[in-house]
Amino acid sequence: MELGTAIRERRSIRKFKPLDVPQDVIREILDQARWSPSWGNTQPWEFYVLTGQALAKFKEMNLEKPAAGVPPSPDVPMPENWPATLKTRYTELGKVVLTTLGIKREDKASRDLYSMDMVLLFGAPCLLLACVSRDNVVEYPMLDIGLICQNICLLAHDKGLGTCLMAAAVRYPAAIREIAAIPENKRVIVGIALGYPDLDFPLNNFARIRAEISEFVHWVE
Ligand SMILES: Cc1cc2nc3c(=O)[nH]c(=O)nc-3n(C[C@H](O)[C@H](O)[C@H](O)COP(=O)(O)O)c2cc1C
Repeated sequence: MELGTAIRERRSIRKFKPLDVPQDVIREILDQARWSPSWGNTQPWEFYVLTGQALAKFKEMNLEKPAAGVPPSPDVPMPENWPATLKTRYTELGKVVLTTLGIKREDKASRDLYSMDMVLLFGAPCLLLACVSRDNVVEYPMLDIGLICQNICLLAHDKGLGTCLMAAAVRYPAAIREIAAIPENKRVIVGIALGYPDLDFPLNNFARIRAEISEFVHWVE
């Protein structure tokens, strides 16, 4: 796939087919993604790949915790206050998702069903958990994680797979560490749901919005 096309066409997948991804394919993606850049070639990332029983346990936990009213305590804090423009974009995404699914804002039962689908990773048969050691006290590893995660998403797209980067997959890191045998000294940064996309599902098709470059690029001569 041509690179520009891959970047333009990759999108977050929010419904996966109930089909396992062969381990060889996941391995190949990670083998290519390891050539991602990182600060001083430090390669601070580690990935835990959950499938099968481990993923089933994860999904059960990720569903039960919010249902039981357990407040999330992610290793990477969720933003509380955002600049107005960003907040508007975030709100717009929420609106588009609900409209695409035909859910009215006041229909709490349907919104709850959608949230449930999300914590169950939209049916993905595989979850990659990106982790960084707590010994890394600077912010650069976050950038490095972002770089390799994007490459993973692009490589997956190139192979006909779908991904969704997910903060909703890392809300309960203590329980995740137990399920995936992740040592205490590693921060669980973000999840990547991986699987074969159900391309007919409306949420995998709605028109996405991006700011024009005039809104975020400053030419300095
Ligand atoms: C760090 C990060 C966390 C995200 N977490 C979620 C999530 O929990 N649930 C979700 O549906 N999408 C999540 N997304 C996907 C974004 O909503 C998506 O990338 C954005 O709306 C742009 O759409 P696109 O990926 O389809 O181009 C996340 C993306 C990033 C980069």
